[in-house]
Amino acid sequence: MTTRRIGFLTSGGDAPGMNAALAGVADGCERVGATLVPIAAGFDGLARGVTTALGPGDAEATMHQAGSRLGTSRWSELRTADGVRTIVGSVARLRLDVLVVAGGAGSLAGVAALHAAGVPVIGIPATIDGDVAGHETTMGFESAVAYAVRVVDDLRASARSLPHRAFLVETLGGDSGNLARACAEASGLELVVTPEDPGSLEHAVARLGPLVDRGYAIVVAGEGAGPGHVVADELSRRTNTRVRLTVLGHGQRAATPTVRDRLLGLRSGRLASRAAPGHVCHQRLDGSVDLEPLAP
Ligand code: F6P
Repeated sequence: MTTRRIGFLTSGGDAPGMNAALAGVADGCERVGATLVPIAAGFDGLARGVTTALGPGDAEATMHQAGSRLGTSRWSELRTADGVRTIVGSVARLRLDVLVVAGGAGSLAGVAALHAAGVPVIGIPATIDGDVAGHETTMGFESAVAYAVRVVDDLRASARSLPHRAFLVETLGGDSGNLARACAEASGLELVVTPEDPGSLEHAVARLGPLVDRGYAIVVAGEGAGPGHVVADELSRRTNTRVRLTVLGHGQRAATPTVRDRLLGLRSGRLASRAAPGHVCHQRLDGSVDLEPLAP
């Protein structure tokens, strides 16, 4: 009897929890007697057939670390028919019975295209942006929000000490304001500028002065609303107040995975290792994970 071969790769922007997902798949493979085929450098690596070796306990040893130990890539060719054909060929050459992919909205669109082309595939949502449609959360989101909240907490200490100043904190999040909104809400901040809500900038302009008069103002802005320095300049100009900018940048992606993101990664990986292909893992806010079929 031949053992089931399960390929695993990470795709797109690295997200805290990706190494936990690898550990989950590795553990699941061990439990069911399947062979894990770890693929380096995401779809770019798979297109070139680049696999890597993991010793016993290797995946478990790094499950608490941010980033992706396998490496990742943004492989735009997957949006084309040629790119899909390349991956179909690689999956066949590596004799994979299932390909498990951890990645964000773009990568999961690639998973859907591969499924439509007959590739036995399973998707695991993994992005700090928290913007996969129909999903309550995504692995990595909470860790990135927690990082941003810690920075706001620190800024408050300075803001309270030397009053009557304004601050702007720029988060990542791509085209989505989910990360900025969650950071502002969890920090108890009134002002958040997001790409989805053009009125949010106007609201910040109107409220900045009164908040500075009262003590201090901290505004959170998602990068999709425009570069932080541009938003800060506009707020400064229109309120006649100096706005001090903090850009969180990729440190958010390097945040230590929270317990929930680790659990989402581990549980998604374990589930994927024993699931039938053609599914995406649905990660819930309570840390539970179940399977959702991919559209035929
Ligand atoms: O993976 C999502 C994300 O972190 C976005 O929040 C951000 O806009 C983008 O990736 C940054 O990409 P890169 O790492 O290529 O600069």
